[in-house]
Amino acid sequence: MKIGILTSGGDAPGMNAAIRAVVKSANYNGIEVLGIKYGYKGLIEEDIIKLNNLDIDGIAEKGGTILKTARCLEFMDEGGRKKALETLKKFEIDSVVVVGGDGSFQGAKELSKLGIKVIALPGTIDNDLAYTDYCIGFDTTLNTVLECIGKIRDTDSSHEKTTIVEVMGRYCGDLALYSALAGGGEIISTPERKLDFNTICNKLSKNISKGKNDNVIIITERMYDIEELQKYIEKRLKISIRNTVLGFIQRGGNPSAFDRVLASKMGVKAVELLMKGFAGRAVGIKDNKIIDVDFSKVNSKNTDKQKEYDLLKLLL
Ligand code: ADP
Ligand code: F6P
Repeated sequence: MKIGILTSGGDAPGMNAAIRAVVKSANYNGIEVLGIKYGYKGLIEEDIIKLNNLDIDGIAEKGGTILKTARCLEFMDEGGRKKALETLKKFEIDSVVVVGGDGSFQGAKELSKLGIKVIALPGTIDNDLAYTDYCIGFDTTLNTVLECIGKIRDTDSSHEKTTIVEVMGRYCGDLALYSALAGGGEIISTPERKLDFNTICNKLSKNISKGKNDNVIIITERMYDIEELQKYIEKRLKISIRNTVLGFIQRGGNPSAFDRVLASKMGVKAVELLMKGFAGRAVGIKDNKIIDVDFSKVNSKNTDKQKEYDLLKLLL
């Protein structure tokens, strides 16, 4: 057996810890691992490197991905995938570990259909894969968001101001939801529970009438024009407020201990599955147990977070 590993889509803190775990556990079992650079692009362009224990020394604590990552349109076409398959044959790679998000998982499924043994690990700050409770990178980003909001709060409370904070997540509200659960905001709006401008204003006005003059309104990206929302609130409530788009700062930084441990467990599990002859499976964590599910069970629909939203009713 020869394993290829790639990281694809948006980078997520903890991807390096996953690479390390795959290389170390494979090497421990006498299996060679090759690194495929720039996600599926590296498969098409034959950008393959050897990875041994020294190459991955000290990377677990580093953000980003040493293998680099990319969004590769060519792999979405049959022609691109054919080239990828030729590369795999040329380098005698029979098994591939894909670390990425929802889109990368679609690519993993396609690769699997071509007869390659594929195991996918969830690596995305969006946490938008429903079969797993947590994706690698989510915890680190959540901590970053909370740290940033903490700083915003210092100045907000000093000036008795409100700030709208836009967080990432693509079409998944988990970053906003968990930030609010952790005390990061007074009002939240997510793709799963979207509030209109009027409702946001009413909630804010209620808080202000109770003497809570500094509020954080957390919104998931891609839902509204943040400046339009700000202007609407300012005009309706006759106050001046602020807006902050956290942006790419959320994708960087050293992975948290949780993400490092999660990525390590998942990486080891991927090699274990391949050694046992399993393929076409995605590794996850459910109720604190590492699980693996067939690709057919992986859907991109956001998990039902009703329990968490119920908790928010008590906390906000
Ligand atoms: P993420 O994995 O973070 O969700 P993307 O959605 O951008 O990121 O997907 C990453 C890459 O996965 C794409 O650039 C493409 O190379 C591959 N991919 C996505 N969807 C498909 C698909 N339907 N078929 C084949 N490859 C895909
Ligand atoms: O999927 C991770 C993510 O950071 C999303 O939260 C965000 O919408 C997107 O990637 C940004 O993508 P890009 O790096 O292509 O701008």
